[in-house]
Amino acid sequence: MLRPYGPVVRDDHPPFSYPDYRATVKRAPRSDLVSILQTLSETTGPGPGWSEVSEEDSDLTSNAGTGAAAIGERIIVTGRVSDEMGRGIPRTLIEIWQANAAGRYVHWRDTEFDAPLDPNFLGVGRCITDEQGDYRFVTIKPGAYPWRNHFNAWRPAHIHFSLMGPSLGSRLVSQMYFPDDPLLDHDPIYTSVPAHARERLLARYDRAVTEEAWALGYRWDIVLRGSAATPGEDGEG
Ligand SMILES: [Fe+2]
Repeated sequence: MLRPYGPVVRDDHPPFSYPDYRATVKRAPRSDLVSILQTLSETTGPGPGWSEVSEEDSDLTSNAGTGAAAIGERIIVTGRVSDEMGRGIPRTLIEIWQANAAGRYVHWRDTEFDAPLDPNFLGVGRCITDEQGDYRFVTIKPGAYPWRNHFNAWRPAHIHFSLMGPSLGSRLVSQMYFPDDPLLDHDPIYTSVPAHARERLLARYDRAVTEEAWALGYRWDIVLRGSAATPGEDGEG
């Protein structure tokens, strides 16, 4: 019988310590983890406040509420959240956060990078998967940004994703990347993911999602468990 909330198989996820990604060395656990099986009381709640999520929250080009559009290349990011059997998972809260088109976050710690903020872009959004497990965001393509991991370290364009299941005990945090980005192979957060699983983090351009004279479309499907599971992350970037 399938155990929906059994121990996480770590083969597809990055190791806790990955020296090229410097911050992982200090925060990695030094002892083996103790796996605790989750039971009904952890997997059924308490969960996120679904009723607080509105339709407008998924459009990052306008959810700053200023009445003016965010600056940058408008894109649509959509996909399906499914389990290891390919079944779509409805009512999953997805939260995303990202830099603006210039590579700058709206965050008090993001002050070193000399890049402009956009008053019409908060860089955060959320939605809930529908009955088929599908989600959809409208946003701006994020810019690359430098970080202090190593000389000339620049993060490839990426969108941070958090998926919350029916309870706080079931959460996946990951990053979505764009295809053909030359920075990918130089990024130790991306390369910390085992090579066989890295492509699962790449969105793909989708002409059917693209809207005529309005926005490019990308598809990123997320698999929560099993041999095709979407890798998570243990750090931040
Ligand atoms: Fe980031």
